[in-house]
Amino acid sequence: MENASMNAANASLAAAAATWNDPHESLESINARIHDGVPEDRLAARADGYIRAMVDHFPYLRFPPRPVCLEIGPGTGYIMEALHRELRRRTNPPAWIGGLDIAENMLVRAKSRLAGKGPFRFLHYDGMSIPLPDASVDLVFSVATLPFIPKPYVYNLFFEMRRIVKPDGFVAFQLLSFKHLPEQETHSPWREEIRRQIGLAEGHWHHFYAREELETVLKTGTGIPFVDLRESGSAIWVCFHEEPLPLPKDFDPGCYLDLNPDVREGGADPARHWQEYGYKEGRKWR
Ligand SMILES: C[S@@+](CC[C@H](N)C(=O)[O-])C[C@H]1O[C@@H](n2cnc3c(N)ncnc32)[C@H](O)[C@@H]1O
Repeated sequence: MENASMNAANASLAAAAATWNDPHESLESINARIHDGVPEDRLAARADGYIRAMVDHFPYLRFPPRPVCLEIGPGTGYIMEALHRELRRRTNPPAWIGGLDIAENMLVRAKSRLAGKGPFRFLHYDGMSIPLPDASVDLVFSVATLPFIPKPYVYNLFFEMRRIVKPDGFVAFQLLSFKHLPEQETHSPWREEIRRQIGLAEGHWHHFYAREELETVLKTGTGIPFVDLRESGSAIWVCFHEEPLPLPKDFDPGCYLDLNPDVREGGADPARHWQEYGYKEGRKWR
């Protein structure tokens, strides 16, 4: 019985993923279809924009020397390349940047497109278990991918991301909020979206999230201690990590309290306050 119900459940994962795995589709057609019609000569700029948004939303993201990074759902690899550019710009080239995808055909395309361009690796998986050891990755990231995956599998990925990230590493990803629904309604009605999903029809499925849902699922359901959510238009950007950020070298508790009178009034310990809230709120400490 367990196997029968598992196969039924995985049918939705497989149906949602089928659209990404056509071996006969040309690279040009894939690039146009999966990048919202952005022309080929703008794909690098689009990818740079996503990486910039990630580092701007979470300016505290830190990388050790020669970081190991993993993108979930790399498509044809433009975002992996953009992160490589960002790390080289920081004069901290990665040990490697991996692309983990459920669609073998996407990995084939990404691999041939990125051949000889950097320390890129490509990993295929079943959509559930990430084939990497515990605590082995410095940055796990994902853009324009999780919104297409049925929710229970995304929730499962939260556990997997948490498992593979190093204790002092970061997980950062982008989802769509319900604010996206009215815009989607103009070209792809919700009624049809739900019919497609229930009928396991091939195509781009869309799943939307709310701030309270994510906070509860990540903190209470997944047990992640540090969760930072930023809403931007119809996107929700999330960063989570296991350990508190180290205090800035020049952190002065008295100065923090002077600059943040509400913290003093609330009676909080200044160092703990900065490590729990201050870093996310961009509070001044000097
Ligand atoms: C719209 S593309 C985005 C590609 C890339 N992130 C970008 O923005 O250029 C979505 C990617 O997610 C992959 N994908 C779909 N379901 C997945 C899953 N369950 N786990 C990992 N990747 C998945 C698809 O195969 C495809 O490569």
